Amino acid sequence: MTTSTSAASPSGADERPYSPGLEGVLAGETALSKVDGANGRLVYRGYRIGDLVERGTYAAVANLLWTGDWDPAARLATGPVPDVVLTTLRALPTTAKPMDALRTAVSAWGATQTLDWPPTAEQARALTAFSPSALAAFARIREGKDPIEPDPSLSLVEGFLYQLKGEKPDAATARALDAYFIVGAEHGFNASTFTARVITSTKSDIVSAVAGAIGTMKGPLHGGAPSEVVDQLAKMGTVEHAEEWLRGALDRGERLMGFGHRVYRAYDPRAAALRKVAEGMEHKPEWLELAIQVEDVALRLLAERHPDRPLKTNVEFYAAPVLMGVGLSPDLFPATFSLARDAGWTAHVLEQAASNRLIRPDVKYVGEEERDLPA
Ligand code: COA
Repeated sequence: MTTSTSAASPSGADERPYSPGLEGVLAGETALSKVDGANGRLVYRGYRIGDLVERGTYAAVANLLWTGDWDPAARLATGPVPDVVLTTLRALPTTAKPMDALRTAVSAWGATQTLDWPPTAEQARALTAFSPSALAAFARIREGKDPIEPDPSLSLVEGFLYQLKGEKPDAATARALDAYFIVGAEHGFNASTFTARVITSTKSDIVSAVAGAIGTMKGPLHGGAPSEVVDQLAKMGTVEHAEEWLRGALDRGERLMGFGHRVYRAYDPRAAALRKVAEGMEHKPEWLELAIQVEDVALRLLAERHPDRPLKTNVEFYAAPVLMGVGLSPDLFPATFSLARDAGWTAHVLEQAASNRLIRPDVKYVGEEERDLPA
């Protein structure tokens, strides 16, 4: 164990190194996933993400994260939404953002649960099962429709689409969304997961940790990118206009959505897995071809502008066609990402609780020297 000590110089200045955004700082230990940014590799408990997408299910991956065991037959269905949560969702304005509705639903659900310390895999499973039902319920309520009861015979993603649309999805659609959920399930110490771990470290409960994580993921730098990918492609319209539009956006100092990553310097392996899924989909959005062509132009321009900082395609660029292809409206994309990340967030809550130490870093003071109040 390392202990932090004050490192004040004789002048009183704090000489310890500081990394804005905690970039490159080791802030914990995990056995859940390894994000190898330099080589563009990602494993969950040692298993490669590409293999998990090809041969696994979200239920098996969630179970792997919670328990450490690989059980390909693991099952996970959507869970019931208590009346108090439905009443809360009905009280929200129909214009509420789905992320706000999901965060509110999770919080209200938590108030109905007994959540003793330490958090358990059963709590993780119940929260992961409840959340898709809650989001589907809100999506229907805002359209003036009644929520649909969960069907326990369906998988989590089938149940989510069924409760959203009132129709059971075909196998290819369910498979595509399941693949998205697998790649979205876990990703090291990203901002929302770190939030969940900080909350857990105070011995707060698993629902508070996930509610906080949803709030963190709501920020456009974290979970908002896929719907903005859709917007940007819509603005380009055709591949002929793409280069001109992309150059203009970069000249204005805008960021190209679906590119760049705090950790990956190589092609994001989740983007590669999702591109394969998107290309194999029965109901491909019309602009998947456009996306594939735009990707090449964008990568070329980003390399021209930032020769020293590799900026490659990230998971969100191909999440967009998959989510459009399964029939989700872009305003549901960030909340759907949260549903997928429930498995990882809750697994981190369990891992944090198992060897807990309050997370409480130091901060470098850069304000006024000690002084007297004005008379
Ligand atoms: N488009 C254009 N330029 C980009 C860029 C992008 N998507 N991502 C990074 N850059 C540029 C920055 O402007 C910066 O340029 P500068 O040094 O001239 O100021 C340089 O690359 C380094 O970027 P930095 O801000 O240090 O990267 P970061 O680690 O803080 O950012 C992201 C990581 C993900 C926030 C960033 O790449 C981004 O905003 N991407 C778009 C949003 C997105 O796709 N998010 C989903 C992530 S999974």
